[in-house]
Amino acid sequence: MTLKPPKRVIHLIAAARPNFMKVAPLYHELVKTEWATPILVHTGQHYDRNMAGDIMDQLALPTPQISLGVGSGSHAEQTGNTMIAYEKVCLKNRPDLIVVVGDVNATVACALVAAKMQIPLAHLEAGLRSFDRTMPEEINRIVTDRLSDILWIPSEDARENLLREGVSEEKIEFVGNIMIDSLLMLKPAIENVKMAEQLELQQKKYGVVTIHRPSNVDEREILGTLVDAMIRLSQNVPLVFPLHPRTRKQLEGFGLFEKLKTCEGVTLLNPLPYIEFMSLVGQTAFVVTDSGGIQEETTYLGIPCVTLRENTERPITVSLGTNRLCSANVAASMSISASMEMARGAKIPPLWDGETAQRVTQSVCKFFKSC
Ligand code: UD1
Repeated sequence: MTLKPPKRVIHLIAAARPNFMKVAPLYHELVKTEWATPILVHTGQHYDRNMAGDIMDQLALPTPQISLGVGSGSHAEQTGNTMIAYEKVCLKNRPDLIVVVGDVNATVACALVAAKMQIPLAHLEAGLRSFDRTMPEEINRIVTDRLSDILWIPSEDARENLLREGVSEEKIEFVGNIMIDSLLMLKPAIENVKMAEQLELQQKKYGVVTIHRPSNVDEREILGTLVDAMIRLSQNVPLVFPLHPRTRKQLEGFGLFEKLKTCEGVTLLNPLPYIEFMSLVGQTAFVVTDSGGIQEETTYLGIPCVTLRENTERPITVSLGTNRLCSANVAASMSISASMEMARGAKIPPLWDGETAQRVTQSVCKFFKSC
């Protein structure tokens, strides 16, 4: 009688809002195999229902088997506390592989734990670079990639970045964009919820705004310029603005909240769950954002996206997709017809096809020589 080999224990690390859409498709794919036991680890960087719980439920993620409960703090506090808590978990029950996603503080924290304990480490969404080290996420990306044994890239530009940094070619695998797997998985629910109708907005006759990056919201002058620009833009076209907790806190602290709240053309909302948010994006004329993931989702959907940043770690969304980088003042003078023009000739990047989780699972299987 041949004994079945024990299942490989794979930790999937999720910390903040954009991580849940990246781990969910992989979790569902790994659970189907006979050789893997995926364990969801939630570090707790985002902890509110509307930043984490609702989104995890919509993506049919289970209650995390491991919760570190780290919460908010400075960069050092978040990174250090995550390392301390996660090392304890790994000392007690050592996984066979740790998968980190994206570029948040917990990504780099868990990558450091993996490397120091010599546990194999894989980075999903590796190789993205903005070449702007003032962005905390850029530091997290560089360090995580340096430490990873497997680097799953969403686009070919990422391969060039990694090779330039001396990563060996055999560690890099082009798997596509896993966010699109989540988007396609929930497409029927997204089409069903009709958020624009609920908010009494006409399809393709409004804009969606999301802003939360420290570089845009942590200084009064910059945030004030953005608020004025949004107010001017809202004179052309109604805007819906789901407020990230960081942005709300800063607007209130700088005395800008009332100005925006009382502006007739602007609807302020709490952060939305994934399905409701994507429904709003699916029906909008354009998006104004500083998010990373939304640049990709709009490119997939062919929705014009104006990114309020000087650079992007996702250049394919500009070269192939519907994304344009610009300042707040230029965004303020945008019209719907100008935004429509932006989307002309745009394409969906290769392997953004809803099958990334399958490719990643194949790659893990090969790594363990289980296939
Ligand atoms: C983090 C990530 C960023 C990602 C963003 C998505 C880093 C360095 N940044 O930024 O890459 O694009 O998440 O949202 O990891 N808060 C709540 N409720 C929550 C979570 C946070 O009120 O559920 C508050 C925190 O107390 C804090 C603020 O929001 O005051 C910001 O949270 P934080 O995790 O520090 O960073 P983000 O700005 O969300």
